[in-house]
Amino acid sequence: MKQIIINGKKELSGEIAIGGAKNSAVALIPASLLSSGKCKIYKVPNISDKDALFEILEVLNVKASFEDTTVTIDSSNIKNVVIPEDLSNKLRASYYFMGVLLARFKHVEIYFPGGCNIGTRPIDLHLKGFVALGVNITHDEQTHKYILDAKNLTGSRINLDFASVGATINLMFAASLAKGTTIITNAAKEIEIINIADYLNKMGADIKGAGTSTITINGVTKLHEAQIDVIPDRIEAGTYLMVGAMIGNNLTVSGIVPNQIKALFDKFDDMGIKYIIDKDKVTISKCNNIKPINIKTLVYPGFPTDLGQPISVVLTQANGVSLFEETIWESRMQHVKYLNKMGANIKLNDSTHSIITGPTPLKGCEINATDLRGGAALVMAGLIADGTTKISNIEYILRGYENLVKKLRQVGADIKIIDEN
Ligand code: EPZ
Repeated sequence: MKQIIINGKKELSGEIAIGGAKNSAVALIPASLLSSGKCKIYKVPNISDKDALFEILEVLNVKASFEDTTVTIDSSNIKNVVIPEDLSNKLRASYYFMGVLLARFKHVEIYFPGGCNIGTRPIDLHLKGFVALGVNITHDEQTHKYILDAKNLTGSRINLDFASVGATINLMFAASLAKGTTIITNAAKEIEIINIADYLNKMGADIKGAGTSTITINGVTKLHEAQIDVIPDRIEAGTYLMVGAMIGNNLTVSGIVPNQIKALFDKFDDMGIKYIIDKDKVTISKCNNIKPINIKTLVYPGFPTDLGQPISVVLTQANGVSLFEETIWESRMQHVKYLNKMGANIKLNDSTHSIITGPTPLKGCEINATDLRGGAALVMAGLIADGTTKISNIEYILRGYENLVKKLRQVGADIKIIDEN
């Protein structure tokens, strides 16, 4: 079993380059199946979620390669077979094959998606939207297998009960080759959705309004090959900036788009954390007087839920009491017990509200990652803790942080991966 070992309190200086956004890449790869040509995706992060998607592409007889952050996909000989359960539940983004295979073949057989256990993570909004487009859905309660089938996909007005990122993207996929116009209202506005709409429009789709709460898709008959760059990963960037705020000495995070994490900079301002923005680079150093604040995670452009667990570590070092509320997922606090084991003082009112009292010096110990961003929070805690921290279940973390250990070692962290077996 692999573990991350950290000897904490090493000041971090130098430059960390940010990779492509996981939550874009995991949608852009399936999106390539909308076109029967050869597609290229540049700046793809080398993370295990990408490998899981490649396993699904292989089952579908789609040729895919990954070379120096470029993914090449050729789906000219695709076979629309059942996507096996063990692959469907390797990651949340497997559900994007619903929208793309419906668009291309009007038929898909797949199982319930996987993903971090941060809530029940239903897909009812996706399914409701597909039904509005004319899809018949059968779902076997025992095997969790879904069969989605449509005589035709017909454009429709779809209002999302919740501004779901996944449902917005999945319905864009299905609507792109439907007959007529689809209007999605209360659509998610996350910037990854703009990246994906750009890709589909380069293929010949007709999508307007991505990044706003109303997206209009005029269906076309065919999509051709295209190329796209994955946008920078705003969550990876935010994670490393928060590390810099706790233990950096002129730590520079580069390759980012600052206005995509404005919500984080607003919180840094409230916390008294200084930083210098210079085009696509941000330089940050340890703040010796972090002010406590209240945090409420929201849909974009609010404070992102994916930075909620990381910022809870920074709040353990703030001088006072901070209130934290998670509004997107119902159980994204499993990392708290491990932070408290290290010496933090976090009280859970319920599974979405916590009270964080600082500053509390943290002490290294043996802990377990519980999910992707919770695991990242534990790495952050290990970097500032006194002594050695041993983190198990690190496969969660490697799903979404490319070359995490290498990037941190390059700026002075004493961190490594060992294999206990
Ligand atoms: C995406 O998940 C991201 N994952 C998540 O990042 C991120 O936390 C989330 O968007 C919100 O920004 C990927 O892009 C692969 P949602 P997604 O549909 O699409 C409810 C990370 O750490 N909902 O916007 O699954 C749902 O239960 C991951 O990188 C329904 O009720 O999120 C949740 O409460 C974690 N029915 C809320 O909406 C549905 O059909 C947000 O879900 C769909 C969602």
